[in-house]
Amino acid sequence: MSAEVAIWDAIDEFVEARTGLCLDTLPGEMRRHVVSAAMQGAGVPGPRAYLERLQLDPRAFDDLIAKLTIPETYFFRDAAMFTSLRTEFIPELFRLRGATHRLRIWSAGCASGEEPYSLAILLDQLGEGGRAHLLLGSDLSRPVVERARHGDYGAWSLRAVSKRVISEYFEKTPHGFRLDARICGMVQFHHHNLADRGSRRRFREKSASISSCAGMSSSI
Ligand SMILES: C[S@@+](CC[C@H](N)C(=O)[O-])C[C@H]1O[C@@H](n2cnc3c(N)ncnc32)[C@H](O)[C@@H]1O
Repeated sequence: MSAEVAIWDAIDEFVEARTGLCLDTLPGEMRRHVVSAAMQGAGVPGPRAYLERLQLDPRAFDDLIAKLTIPETYFFRDAAMFTSLRTEFIPELFRLRGATHRLRIWSAGCASGEEPYSLAILLDQLGEGGRAHLLLGSDLSRPVVERARHGDYGAWSLRAVSKRVISEYFEKTPHGFRLDARICGMVQFHHHNLADRGSRRRFREKSASISSCAGMSSSI
């Protein structure tokens, strides 16, 4: 193995160790292309200097992660999961813990927020929108968390949502749809790396009734 190849591999290994991402799921050439583009953006002369930059500069690391992660998501994406939450899990939790129980729901790896916001809509549909349930959305990629906080979506994010739900919970804007401010206010978003053991423990303590790691098969 040439020294250059070894350095590129060391970059992959560093990212995998820090995040739990399995970079082998991206074809080698595409992966190299993405990492090279991020390296150029960081303005360093080559992969060895880039590895050092990634180790020392959280902004360079975040920029690479934003390029390597795949934030594919849409509202009510996993229809079966939402049906069983609506008809079984949530009613059962209230039955077991009492009607005044405060749910704590964590969407870990929430990308641009469609999943936790779908959970907020679901709670509202169950007549629970006005109660102080805790809904958390978190993701490793900073730009998607920032997008989630805005609550602005294109039609593609709403492809599995009925016209009735769209008219009830979204407002048409020149660029797409804006989620109702009341529903946006039900979800707190955080930048969070699930592979970071310390902060994972803190999150677990905060939010425990229901957690979703949907769509993260290539991660930890
Ligand atoms: C395919 S999206 C799934 C979004 C949503 N859960 C859904 O099912 O619609 C997977 C998300 O997991 C995030 N992710 C991957 N590894 C992560 C980690 N170690 N910590 C937190 N988020 C992670 C990615 O940034 C990406 O936005």
